[in-house]
Formats: sequence, C-alpha cells, structure tokens
Amino acid sequence: MATTPKTVVVTGATGAQGGGVVDALLLAGNKKVRAITRNASSQKAKDLAARGVEVVEADLNDTASLTKAFTGANELFLVTDFYGAGFSYDNELKQGTNAIDAAKEAGVDFVVFSYLEQPPKDVQDGLPRLEDGRTVAHFESKHDIGEYLAKSGLPFTLLITCMFYDNMITFTMYQKQTDGSYVFSNNLGNEPHGAHSVGTIGQTVAAVLEDPQKYNGKTIPVVGEQISQPEMAQIVSDVTGKNVKYHAMSDEQFASLPMPAAQDLTNMFAYYRKWNYYDQLRPLSERLVSGPTFKEWAEAHREVLKSKIESS
Ligand SMILES: NC(=O)c1ccc[n+]([C@@H]2O[C@H](COP(=O)([O-])OP(=O)(O)OC[C@H]3O[C@@H](n4cnc5c(N)ncnc54)[C@H](OP(=O)(O)O)[C@@H]3O)[C@@H](O)[C@H]2O)c1
Repeated sequence: MATTPKTVVVTGATGAQGGGVVDALLLAGNKKVRAITRNASSQKAKDLAARGVEVVEADLNDTASLTKAFTGANELFLVTDFYGAGFSYDNELKQGTNAIDAAKEAGVDFVVFSYLEQPPKDVQDGLPRLEDGRTVAHFESKHDIGEYLAKSGLPFTLLITCMFYDNMITFTMYQKQTDGSYVFSNNLGNEPHGAHSVGTIGQTVAAVLEDPQKYNGKTIPVVGEQISQPEMAQIVSDVTGKNVKYHAMSDEQFASLPMPAAQDLTNMFAYYRKWNYYDQLRPLSERLVSGPTFKEWAEAHREVLKSKIESS
C-alpha cells in the first residue's frame, strides 16, 4: 500500500540555507515541501511555488503565525536569522524559541536546527567582550536555542555549519587595485578552516530526514573541506581568470570596519582562526555528506563569481 509522503516545513526557504534544503528535498523527491516566508508575493516565493513547493506566510517573531503554518507538517528545518533579527542575541533566541514552541503546539514530529556551538571558555577568555558581555553573540544564541530544543521533548538533530563558500558571492568585498588585481580582506588569517556550500547543508538535512530516529539527539557537522583564505583566493583566480588575492587583517583592523556587528564577526573569525572546531571538536568522519570542494563549487558558480568581482 502506498504511504503518504511526509511534509517538511522549511524556514528561511527564500534564503541561502533554507533554499539549499528545498533544493535537496525536491531532488530526493520523496517528501512534500512547505516553505515559510513573510511575503508569499516575493519573486523568490513565487519561484518556489512554480517548483511545486507549498508556500505559506509566517513570521519567526509571531508564534501564532508559525503554529498555523506548521500545522499538518511532520518535520521542520529551522534556521534563525541573526542579521534579520537586528544582530541581537535576544531577538534571535526569541525567533528560535517561538519556532520550537510552535512546532510542539502544531504536533511536528522532528526538528532539524541549524545550530552553532558556543565558543569554549578558554577561547571566550581570549576574546574582547561585546557590550552585553558575550563574545560571539550569534553562536551563543544558536547554542541556547539548541538547549531549549533539547529540553522541549521534541526529537531533533543539530547541524553545526561553518563558513559558507557562497559568502564569496554574497558578502565578500573585492577591492580593485591599481594594477588590475582584486583583494579581499578579513581577520581569518592564512590557516585552513572549515567551509562548505549551502547545498551541503541541504543534502545533510535530506540525509537526516531519510532516517530521523537514527540521528535523534545527535549533532552533525556540515563541512565540505578545510581550506585557507589564500587557497580560496587562488582558486577564485584560476576559475574566473581574475587576479584575486587575500589580505589578512588584524583583529583590531577588522573590528574597526564600519559594518554592523563588526566586533561579533571579528570574534567569530578569531574563534575559527584560534580554534578551528573541525579539527578539535568535530572530526570530518562524523559528517553525513562530503564535498563539494571549494574548487568544484567555484567552477559551478564561475559566471556569477566573475561578475561579482568585476562589479567591485
Ligand atoms: N554566512 C555564513 O557563513 C553563515 C555560517 C553559519 C551560520 N550562518 C547563519 O545563517 C543565518 C542566516 O541564514 P541564511 O544565510 O540562510 O539567510 P539569508 O539568505 O539571509 O535569508 C534569510 C531568510 O530568513 C527568512 N527570515 C528572516 N527573518 C524572518 C522572520 N522574521 N520570519 C520568517 N522568516 C524570516 C527570510 O525569509 P523572507 O524574507 O522570505 O521572509 C529568508 O528566507 C544567520 O543566523 C547566520 O548567523 C551564516
């Protein structure tokens, strides 16, 4: 007898992580996908609907809207948005607890949360404190959401993500030099760190949801490879034909840039640099999905990478 496919409700479906999850679930083809957005009329939401995704409006700041939107779904992919939450620990924590409360109320059976770990005490002790006494606020909020989820009684899996390759298109600023080369800068330094595409998050979620009970209560790392910023610059140069170099800034230089949450991001990169958590805490062997490598990802995104660099 044919079984009814499960419905997976995906938050952030119009964004990077949730978009990767929708792609992977549609590719697997054995679940119904319901996308959450605040605006079902946006082009991204319409594009999802055109691919057969059920699009439902709800707001992570409004528990009642989430409960309504989650009702009838079996599984939830939850991603909270530190940036959209005004770079605020409290606001992001509230997004997460609202969604967990709503999932419980709506009778969702399983939650996969895009989590991050609180930096260990010895790392925190070596970092400047933010105004609220935290060090990497958007890791601490996700850590505390994870604790709330673990206490909720809902079966769950936590995914530990690291730096998205996709940032090389969305966030990286390439500065054109007088000799025609381009330079991008941050305080990550020259050593390898964990990185992956948002597609790897999606594939990992799909793998967990193939057998959720197997991964109940587990924390799964998401990582494509360990790679350094200079290596990424070289690969971007090779793939796009543009001469791209990396410049390692000091923590003080990066923290003084005029951008929101500059100290929080500086501390995050310092944490990666001083304590690459994929060496010390999360062996690569624990991951469910390997690759793509940064080179494979860059080759698949050659044209968009090139135009991003050229438009700098
Ligand atoms: N970039 C990295 O390397 C990296 C690495 C690890 C973790 N992260 C974390 O990734 C998170 C952001 O995820 P992302 O990059 O996938 O996001 P994104 O591409 O910026 O998209 C944001 C998504 O969140 C949804 N959203 C925002 N506020 C919402 C609200 N109040 N209610 C409902 N939906 C809301 C948006 O949907 P609509 O606009 O359609 O409503 C959109 O789909 C951040 O918390 C960040 O800390 C980033």
